[in-house]
Parts: sequence; structure tokens; C-alpha cells
Amino acid sequence: MDHLRSAAWYQGADRNAYIHRAWMRRGLPDDALDATKPQIAIANTASDLTPCNMHLNEVAESVKQGVWAAGGVPYNLPVVSLGETQVKPTAMLWRNMAAMAMEEMFRANPIDGLVLLGGCDKTIPALLMAAASVNLPAIVVPGGPMLTGYFRGEALGCGTDVWRLSEEVRAGTITNAQFQESEQSTIRSKGHCNTMGTASTMAVVAEALGMTIPGFAGTPAADARLLKKSHETGRLIVDMVAAGRRPSDIMTRESFLNAIIAVAAVGGSTNAVVHLLAIAGRLGIELSLADFDAAGAGIPVMANLQPSGAFLMDDLHRAGGLLALLAQITDLLHPEPITVTGAPLVDALGGHPVYDDTVILPREAPLMADAGIAVLRGNLAPRGAIIKPSAASPELLQHVGPAVVFDSVEDMRARIDDPELDVTADSVLVLRGCGPRGYPGMPEVGNMPLPRKLLEAGVRDMVRISDARMSGTAYGTVILHVAPEAAAGGPLGLVRTGDIIRVDVAGRSLSVDVSEEELRSRGQSPASEAAYAKPSRGWAKLYVDHVMQADTGADLDFLVGSSGDEVSRESH
Ligand code: FES
Repeated sequence: MDHLRSAAWYQGADRNAYIHRAWMRRGLPDDALDATKPQIAIANTASDLTPCNMHLNEVAESVKQGVWAAGGVPYNLPVVSLGETQVKPTAMLWRNMAAMAMEEMFRANPIDGLVLLGGCDKTIPALLMAAASVNLPAIVVPGGPMLTGYFRGEALGCGTDVWRLSEEVRAGTITNAQFQESEQSTIRSKGHCNTMGTASTMAVVAEALGMTIPGFAGTPAADARLLKKSHETGRLIVDMVAAGRRPSDIMTRESFLNAIIAVAAVGGSTNAVVHLLAIAGRLGIELSLADFDAAGAGIPVMANLQPSGAFLMDDLHRAGGLLALLAQITDLLHPEPITVTGAPLVDALGGHPVYDDTVILPREAPLMADAGIAVLRGNLAPRGAIIKPSAASPELLQHVGPAVVFDSVEDMRARIDDPELDVTADSVLVLRGCGPRGYPGMPEVGNMPLPRKLLEAGVRDMVRISDARMSGTAYGTVILHVAPEAAAGGPLGLVRTGDIIRVDVAGRSLSVDVSEEELRSRGQSPASEAAYAKPSRGWAKLYVDHVMQADTGADLDFLVGSSGDEVSRESH
């Protein structure tokens, strides 16, 4: 084993080393701070206010046992946690803050390796961004999805079914009392959302990047094997420190391409785009929106999971899990990238049969033959916009219709159900002022509700365009992440109600039938400009001043790249 980083704190006979050791003794074995003992931080996003991660303290205990068993010394390190359903105005506003705080604490403390405990949507991205920038040996433990909840005998997909049932209330097909009754059944157990939403997608991403023990992603939170794998992770991180294997050895451009392929194959969340771009940015890896389109092209969606399909994460696990699914497309994956074990990811794919081919569909009979995430460009989105075709209505993937423009979320909420709203099923709903800078934090409002009068008439999907994001559990023909956003001067801010918008997903284009000259002559909508965020202090001010656009990951411009694990005077 090379010289341990923690030796800079603990070794020596001077007063500083004395202080570092003395304050940490507190009952540790005599040799715990020896020069041969890897010091392992368990970066723990457990929080009673992050319901999806509440159980991670129990998981941390299993990791600790594994670290001790392998000769290391574990420490619980509580880090900023983000409960997707709880924090306002949107958890995405705090992702970069969490990542920045984590990075600084990883660097500032006497540790040699990291185990990253995440679950709810933003927690794994923030942990990976931080681990990438500090580049200490690290392994992700995905906290796991919850068990399937049932209401009146039917499985409930958390998130997806909430959207569906709330639309049914608005359409008048179920009562609000029936909707409220389902509330007790949705969240059946510990764990994160059980659909292929953002949390499940980011667990898949972590595994496909090579940052988990292979076969970990998707293990339900309530499954005893989650604790077994957590124990194994504790053992492995000690070996990883000894081997000097770091995130930059594992997360290469090819492993990012594998992650994009995996996200396509599971019909994963559109949020994976901003998170993967941000993590890659921390590593100095060239990754662009075009890579999502190219790497995801032709990848079949084989996971028959909500919101694209029918089943839930517990079903994926019993059907064989992610490894069984990826085993079917081994030939499409890049063979070189290694995992935290040091062996290539593709080597882990042998011997994983599919036990239920209605959940993990055969490659030759997928849910959708060519899904991935499509990147649209045109005079409405010069730097790109994205859509998840597998969650959209096939008949709307090519569409021409008049815009109905909303200047802000508040404007949309105030007018969407107005019986006088001039809208038909062919209209294109446009929402602006919801990008990284405009709101701020780029909330998940892109899947805006359909006008009540159209719902009542039986309409269940329309083309919607915005600079916002969309919940990974949502569905519909929803074009998102338009860049540049309206608040950054993008043309989305220049569209007017009645303009004809053209969407051609196959042709990868998104345009408005207005000449460049005419567009240039139009000013930004005063109502939109009035609604854009103008924070004067605190994190929101720092965020708005420095956040980048969605097409580059919406990280802060000064957080791109790595500072490594060296503690310098600037770090103090
Ligand atoms: Fe936490 Fe969905 S709310 S994963």
C-alpha cells in the first residue's frame, strides 16, 4: 500500500499529530490510526427529511462492519441531503451546493477512501460530482427502491401513478376522495421511488459507470441482500485504497457512453442528461448532448418499467436485475471500462439469466426498438433540447401546431384550466422562465398539466415545450431543457401565442415558423422578464450568477473540473 493520505494528519511525534490522534481516539483500538490503516468516510445522506434515504444509517452500519473486517477504520460522515418531494423551491437548486459541500468535506478530512450512500434523485449525482472533483477512491452504495405498494389490488408506481391519478381527478374519472385514499398505499416501505424515475436511473448510471459493486443497482431497500452488498462494499473500499484505484480510473469517456446506453436500455429519466454532463465536467471528460443521441441511438428499451412500461423496480430485481438486462446487449457496450473491482464491467455480465421476460423484454421484442434520449435543435433551441421518445405518444413525435405560451409557472397555473383559454389538442404548450437561471434551479414542471377542458374531452397527451426539467417518473410528449433558456436570452423567450411550432423527433428538429429577422426584432416578453429570479444574497445569488445552461450540465462554472485531494492554503 502506498503512503496513506491520512498519515499527513496522524503520523509523527509533533503537537499537531498528537491533537489529530487524541481527539479521534474515543475508544478506537490502539492501532486504528496506524500508518497502515485506511481511514474510510461513509458519506451518508441519511436524513429524516429525505424520506427515501431515511434507512441509510442502517446501511452505513453494514458498510462499517465490512470496512473493519478488511482492516480499515470507518467513520460516518453526514453530508447534505436532499429530499426530492420536500425541499423547495426545487431540489435541483441545491444539487451543486450539496456537491460543493461534500467535495470540501472530503478534502478537508483525514480520509483515504469514500463510500457514497445515496438514493433520492439528487443525492447520487451530488456524491459522484464531489467524488469526481476530489478523486479519492470511492464506491457508491445505492440505497435501493421501495417495495411495490398496492391500492385496491393494483400496483402503484410512486410518482407515475400520482401524476396519472391526479389527472384522472381533473378529468373527473375518479373522485378526489378516492385519490386521497391511495395516499396511504403509495409508499409501502423504506427506499426511493419504485419506478424507473431519476433515483432508479441514477443507481443504474452509477453501476454502468463502474462506481458500484456490479449487481447492486436496483436491489430493493428492504431486501436483506442490500445489507450484504453494503458489507462487501465496505470490504472492497479498503482494497481499493490499497490498489490506489480512483474515480478517474473508472469513469472514463467510454464508461460515460456505457452509462448512456444503459439509461436508454432501461428507459431512464431525462434527468440523467444534466447529471451525467455535470459529473463528466468534474472529470474533464468531453461529453456533449450529441453523445446522448449518438450513443443511445438504436438501443432498445428492454425494461418494461413505469413510466415507459408496466412494471416496477422490485419486478426488475426478481427478473434478474440490471446485469441480466445489460447482458443482452454486451456487444453494444464498450468493453474497456473497469468497475470499482478493477475488472471490466462487461466481465460481470456473464451468468445472469432473465427470469421473467415480461419485465426484462427480449432484445428482439423490446418495448421500443430505438429509444434513448433524442436531442432536438433548431431556431427554438440553438444549443439543443431533449425528449424521451419512450415516454411520449408516437403520433405526436412529428407535430405542427400553434403555440400557447405561458410566461412563468405561475402564469401557467393561473390560466391552464381557464375555460376561455384558446387551446386545442393540436396546440403546443410552451412554458418559459423555468431554466437553471430563470426559476432558479430548473424545476420539474416541464410535464405541465393539460388544460382541464381538453382532459374532460378525453385528451391525454399534448406536445409541451419548456426550459424546465421533468420528473423521471413523468411521461408525455414533453420537450425539455431548451437551451439557451429564456432567462439567458434564448429564443424560447421570443415565441408568441399563435406562432406555428414544428416538432420532428425523427428529424431531430424543433423550430418556430418565424424568420430570424422577425425573431431578432422581438423583445423578450416583459411578463417573463419580470418573473425571472433576481436573488440578492445567499446560495441562490451565487447559483444564478454562475450556473451554466442545461446542455452543459447546469453545474456552476467555477465547479467544473477537479481540485484533487491535496489540501492547500486556499482550501483552509
Ligand atoms: Fe425520492 Fe422519488 S422522491 S426518489
